[in-house]
Amino acid sequence: MSGMCSVSDRYLEVVVRELTQGDLPAILDIEHQGYSHPWSEGVFRDTFRSGYSLLGIEQAGRLEAYAVQATLFDEAHLLNLCVRPASRGRGYARQLLRVLLAESACQGLQRMVLEVRVGNRSARRLYQSEGFVVVGERPGYYPDGAGREDAIVMALGLAGPADPTS
Ligand SMILES: CC(C)(COP(=O)(O)OP(=O)(O)OC[C@H]1O[C@@H](n2cnc3c(N)ncnc32)[C@H](O)[C@@H]1OP(=O)(O)O)[C@@H](O)C(=O)NCCC(=O)NCCS
Repeated sequence: MSGMCSVSDRYLEVVVRELTQGDLPAILDIEHQGYSHPWSEGVFRDTFRSGYSLLGIEQAGRLEAYAVQATLFDEAHLLNLCVRPASRGRGYARQLLRVLLAESACQGLQRMVLEVRVGNRSARRLYQSEGFVVVGERPGYYPDGAGREDAIVMALGLAGPADPTS
């Protein structure tokens, strides 16, 4: 019984790990499925440098989601969070976000900031449910067909060890 369980557990196992350049094909595959205006390979290559974190969620050896975060001074900036369309609604985005929040707090960062399209209801609900609040707007921030779409800026204070009272 335990032998059979360990085999099936291995296939079900969800792993959160740091991504490397070797993950680029899988990242780009998800990115192109996920966005009307995907990042280029060059943009992703630039993020494999210090000051950025790339985290992914893998299940049964297949990349299902990734997040890209930049750190500047005491602030984490969530630049990208994308889940394979066929694998949405399984909690992957929330799980990745929580790992990033925990790591950022652990590093003593004071807050996480992000931009999200005004019309991106699912992402806005996710961020709001994790405690992010709207702190600003960026008119025409995103390309949208022939026009532009506004971004809202959301932020969440992190109770890191550097300032446990914040
Ligand atoms: C937004 C996105 C990352 C959510 O990923 P996901 O793995 O499906 O999200 P989760 O399963 O972790 O769900 C977390 C929460 O998001 C919200 N959410 C997710 N899908 C939703 C939907 N279709 N409608 C409304 N809310 C939704 C809910 O609040 C959900 O919590 P709940 O399940 O308790 O209701 C995913 O839809 C995606 O990759 N979209 C394209 C890329 C993108 O827009 N990224 C955000 C850039 S700022």
